[in-house]
Amino acid sequence: MEKPIYQKIIDDMLRDINNGQLEVGMKIPSQRALTQKYGVNRSTIVHVIDILKSYGVLESKERKGIYVSKNKWNEYVSNNLNWQDYIGNSINQNNQYYIREINRCEFIPDIVRLGTGELSAELIPNDAFHEIISKDLSRQLTSNYEAPKGNIQLRQQVKELVKKRGIECSVEEVCITSGALQGLKLIADGLLIPKSKIIVETPSYINSIRTWHKIHSKMIPLSVDYIRNNIHAIFKEDEDYSNSIFYCNPTLHNPTSHTYTLKEKEQILEQCKAKGIPVVEDDIYSELWFEGSIPKSMKELDTSHNVLYLGSLSKTVSPGLRIGWLIGNERVINHLADLKMQNDYGASSISQFIATKWLAHYHETHIEDIKRNLKRRKDMMEDALTEAFSDIGRWSKVEGSFYIWFRFNESIDLKRLFKLALEEGLLIHPGEIYSEKEKHSLRFSYSYIDEHDIKESIYKLRTIIDKENLLNKRKSSDS
Ligand SMILES: Cc1ncc(COP(=O)(O)O)c(C=O)c1O
Repeated sequence: MEKPIYQKIIDDMLRDINNGQLEVGMKIPSQRALTQKYGVNRSTIVHVIDILKSYGVLESKERKGIYVSKNKWNEYVSNNLNWQDYIGNSINQNNQYYIREINRCEFIPDIVRLGTGELSAELIPNDAFHEIISKDLSRQLTSNYEAPKGNIQLRQQVKELVKKRGIECSVEEVCITSGALQGLKLIADGLLIPKSKIIVETPSYINSIRTWHKIHSKMIPLSVDYIRNNIHAIFKEDEDYSNSIFYCNPTLHNPTSHTYTLKEKEQILEQCKAKGIPVVEDDIYSELWFEGSIPKSMKELDTSHNVLYLGSLSKTVSPGLRIGWLIGNERVINHLADLKMQNDYGASSISQFIATKWLAHYHETHIEDIKRNLKRRKDMMEDALTEAFSDIGRWSKVEGSFYIWFRFNESIDLKRLFKLALEEGLLIHPGEIYSEKEKHSLRFSYSYIDEHDIKESIYKLRTIIDKENLLNKRKSSDS
């Protein structure tokens, strides 16, 4: 049943008070102004004011008018608090539907996760963690707060690690973060303003998190195909790009696994430099390049400190360590490290300790093992897809990391597939998570799923699609 008009006005005024448009102690607009604002008779406004007075939210001051009550407001809030109003008003909007559902369903017992972007539990080196903890931790750990940019020995190890990637930096240009995600958050908080333009590849991981959507800057999505086809003129001639950034995941991109060629990386850098646009290079997957040497990073190619570089141990070692790093111009790093202190006073010192030992003694051999393992899983999943899915879609060659980006040839009702798959115990990642335009794509991942489940679940998914006739249903309305 629809609420009566006077109740809607009450709700609206309470919302104005809640979000500070009508502050405590402030005089409310005149009855005439409210009559005009809401398009109602004066008697309705009188009725509303009477009710709000009876709640103690408003009070009359003789010959002065009606005010938001100073004393009773807190009382009213504690008696009538409607958390939904607060949640609804928050600028921190909830994750989109699929992400919420995925977060909810990931921990359902026996669910098969066909899209999860994590190493499976048996690939996480718990034995090495145990060794570090039992051998070194009790003797050497100091678990006080760490320096603003993070533990100096860990920064030293990160410097050595990225040197092998061709990146030369000083420890002062390295800041340890709680995962790369915190690096992204610090960039949003510390460098971007509402006027900024955030140029992002699409599809992109950045769309699956809301971190950069909250600052109300303009997002400019550019498809990877657009970037490659316009590699000499990516940005508009007459557009103002001040305070803007270009975010990219140029090597083993999430979700597409795409990697730009060296020439393309150089062109992107050159144009960003010419336009004065800093590049945020998210490089957290590149160590998982399967064969031959890892393609050069943009940070290595950058000669003018125009790249802020993000790395992490989440995809190569363990996401639960929550250890990542930001590398860039020292002044920027100092500023972001200062912000980090305001946020959390640094990543866990125990994790930083483990990560230091890990990088010094275990990382290199582990990466070789993990790559072999992932490659085997990738082959299994590709074989299953070739058998069960190649007549209805396509994917590009995968050269490393976790993902197979599958595009259906026809349109498909993925919302329904998502629900039906869940009923059958399968959790999938629809492409829409990464771009609202990707309504007919799926991100498959072979990193988390049990090897023995790969073939069976791919076949099961295909059976659902056929049985429910999901393909081609929305071709006319949404292709
Ligand atoms: C491209 C990309 N960047 C950053 C992150 C966040 O990683 P972390 O766990 O280090 O915060 C992810 C996680 O999936 C990712 O895919």
